[in-house]
Amino acid sequence: MTKDEIEKEVERLSPWYHAIALPFGITTQPLWDIRPVWDNIRSARSKIDYVGKKVLDIAAFDGMWSFEAEDLGAELVISTDCNWIALQHFLMCKQARNSKAIPFYNVPPHDLYNRLDSYLKGRDCKWAPSCDVGGGDTRFDVVHHLGLFYHLVDPVQSLLQARSVMREGGSLLFETAYSMSDKNQSHMVFNGRNDDGTYRIYPDTTTWWAPTLKCIEEILLACLFKPVFHCEITGDTCGRTCFVAEAIPFSEKHHGSEILNSFRTPGYSNRSDLAAANLAIAFDTWRAADKMLGQQKAYEGFKYDSEGILSLLK
Ligand SMILES: C[S@@+](CC[C@H](N)C(=O)[O-])C[C@H]1O[C@@H](n2cnc3c(N)ncnc32)[C@H](O)[C@@H]1O
Repeated sequence: MTKDEIEKEVERLSPWYHAIALPFGITTQPLWDIRPVWDNIRSARSKIDYVGKKVLDIAAFDGMWSFEAEDLGAELVISTDCNWIALQHFLMCKQARNSKAIPFYNVPPHDLYNRLDSYLKGRDCKWAPSCDVGGGDTRFDVVHHLGLFYHLVDPVQSLLQARSVMREGGSLLFETAYSMSDKNQSHMVFNGRNDDGTYRIYPDTTTWWAPTLKCIEEILLACLFKPVFHCEITGDTCGRTCFVAEAIPFSEKHHGSEILNSFRTPGYSNRSDLAAANLAIAFDTWRAADKMLGQQKAYEGFKYDSEGILSLLK
């Protein structure tokens, strides 16, 4: 694209959420100045090596974090969201930057495993030349879950889903609003209204929860993520925090058996595919999940006798 074309498109598509660096020194101008939040994310992100990595950017919006992941050396970037206007922004920047990032903009964060199947299980994928046993590992090395948790009715489910598409040892970059109410307590504040009519967290109806820092650490562990670093900025009632957390293996002590009970998750009864996602977490092997779906007897080979797993396979 020429300088003139880029300038016209940036203008036509405004307002923007992100400040995206484009050729010819052009940068999209964000509607809100939230640079302190972004600086906080970049501080945490500096702990992660992106070179050669497969990156998933959940709730990518205009795509700033996806494009920056490419700039940091990521080999593959997949960007998800549920916002078709943001998709136009993303596509324009992708073209202007000659980016290879791949948008999947009809993928909700509570259904990543299923909705990314054309990538995760695709035969046309470089990392999985064949879906047969022995194919490559398509799971992500780095997952961004930024500015999203507090927008979700069921944010824990989205973290479980993020874990289900990651390899063990991978890095989660996780950013959210957090409640500063009592740092020794573990709870989530609901974004209801105070007696004076003000919202407890943010004055908008797309915000549901603000967890305390202790609560975030506990939820991450319950979703098989070990926090390794975090940094905060404070606010009036809410601050913003950014964690780096490592994807760790399944263990009974991490709500393990309950993770396997996906038939108890509202809206997911009898979903064998979701069960498979959770099994992928449990065994931390992609082939295990594929075998489970394809050949039910494969479980006999696993040295694991949890009633939870066996009941899923009956
Ligand atoms: C505050 S923006 C964060 C954008 C980007 N991740 C960042 O940190 O700069 C929230 C993003 O989450 C998406 N989002 C908000 N609520 C959502 C929901 N309930 N389900 C799925 N996506 C949602 C929006 O489309 C938007 O891209």
